[in-house]
Amino acid sequence: TQQYRITLLPGDGIGPEILTVTVEVLKVIGKQFDITFEFQKGLIGGAAIDETSEPLPSETLELCRNSDAVLLAAIGGYKWDNLPRLQRPETGLLGLRAGLNLFANLRPATILPQLIDASSLKKEVVEGVDIMVVRELTGGVYFGQPKGIFTTETGEKRGVNTMAYTETEIDRIAHVAFEAARKRRGKLCSVDKANVLDVSQLWRDRVITISETYPDIELSHMYVDNAAMQLVRNPKQFDTIVTGNLFGDILSDAAAMLTGSIGMLPSASLGSTGPGVFEPVHGSAPDIAGQDKANPLAQVLSAAMMLRYGLNEAAAADKIEQSVLAVLDQGYRTGDIMSHSMKLVGCQEMGDVLLKVLES
Ligand code: NAD
Ligand code: IPM
Ligand code: MN
Repeated sequence: TQQYRITLLPGDGIGPEILTVTVEVLKVIGKQFDITFEFQKGLIGGAAIDETSEPLPSETLELCRNSDAVLLAAIGGYKWDNLPRLQRPETGLLGLRAGLNLFANLRPATILPQLIDASSLKKEVVEGVDIMVVRELTGGVYFGQPKGIFTTETGEKRGVNTMAYTETEIDRIAHVAFEAARKRRGKLCSVDKANVLDVSQLWRDRVITISETYPDIELSHMYVDNAAMQLVRNPKQFDTIVTGNLFGDILSDAAAMLTGSIGMLPSASLGSTGPGVFEPVHGSAPDIAGQDKANPLAQVLSAAMMLRYGLNEAAAADKIEQSVLAVLDQGYRTGDIMSHSMKLVGCQEMGDVLLKVLES
């Protein structure tokens, strides 16, 4: 029997709802694949602020460090939106990523044939789309110094963030991206703003240098504004995309909509050693929280990514992914992916039908 210690971070909004479904799925999978999951729960985000006044209590970071993988749902909500920056839920999430040195965020956007009608784009445009966004996660404008709101000599306020990347930071994410492209269709597009930003010029120069050790990968470069346009115009041109923290945040939400709903998209946040964090691309969806309307599949698929990338349990990951497809084949849909003549279900019921498929 394989044994893994998994830290669960339900967080806020729909977080607890989608994580509950996912833990049920993991328990069944565990029985089927002779895996014992030892779950431990931690506080993060608004839930942690309410209990401890900090968005990332040090106990949570310790729990995560002492586990084989971390399954995170989502953080944030209106209630905490006006707190000072250091006490906001989002700061807790950034602290977790930085604290575990999770510099590489893999965000696959694959269109499932079952959901073609759920996309806001034409069938011909999205059919067959299969993109992997490799987002740098612990650098760039999210973390660069100086940052803050300062008062100028004339007495007005000035908000500052700094977009910065060192060669080391660029090189390591480039390696992850080239390796990812090698396991896919061998094409890598690096997205930057080198026509304007010095940080992007360095990014491009380093990616070109690193590419010399990957002669089998076809490398291209694109400015981020054009990339946003091309993702919607002709997404099939992309295989693997590598980009910085902020550009990756924005482009991965755009890529999500190609697949029908952000409620379908999982992600893996990885470092070079230590546990990874596996989390949906979406947020805490406060507009539908507590209403049993959330799509749990991004979270369930994040658990599959945990099995595949974090625990080396590919067969168990495959099984989860296949059962998600089966449930969609049977016509079950949460509101975000609902289309004509399908069966509308809530978060819990989606979980129930998933368990039924897994156990059949
Ligand atoms: P969001 O992703 O939470 O929601 C955007 C829209 O998508 C909403 O209409 C929501 O209802 C819908 N949606 C998202 N996930 C869904 C799901 N699983 N099923 C069905 N519909 C879903 O983004 P937002 O509204 O900009 O942000 C809300 C809060 O979440 C903010 O506090 C933000 O900082 C936080 N956030 C957290 C994370 C994270 O924890 N990783 C990611 C993004 C945003
Ligand atoms: C995401 C989120 C986070 C980010 C926020 C909540 C800090 O949007 O995971 O995509 O910007 O990275
Ligand atoms: Mn985001």
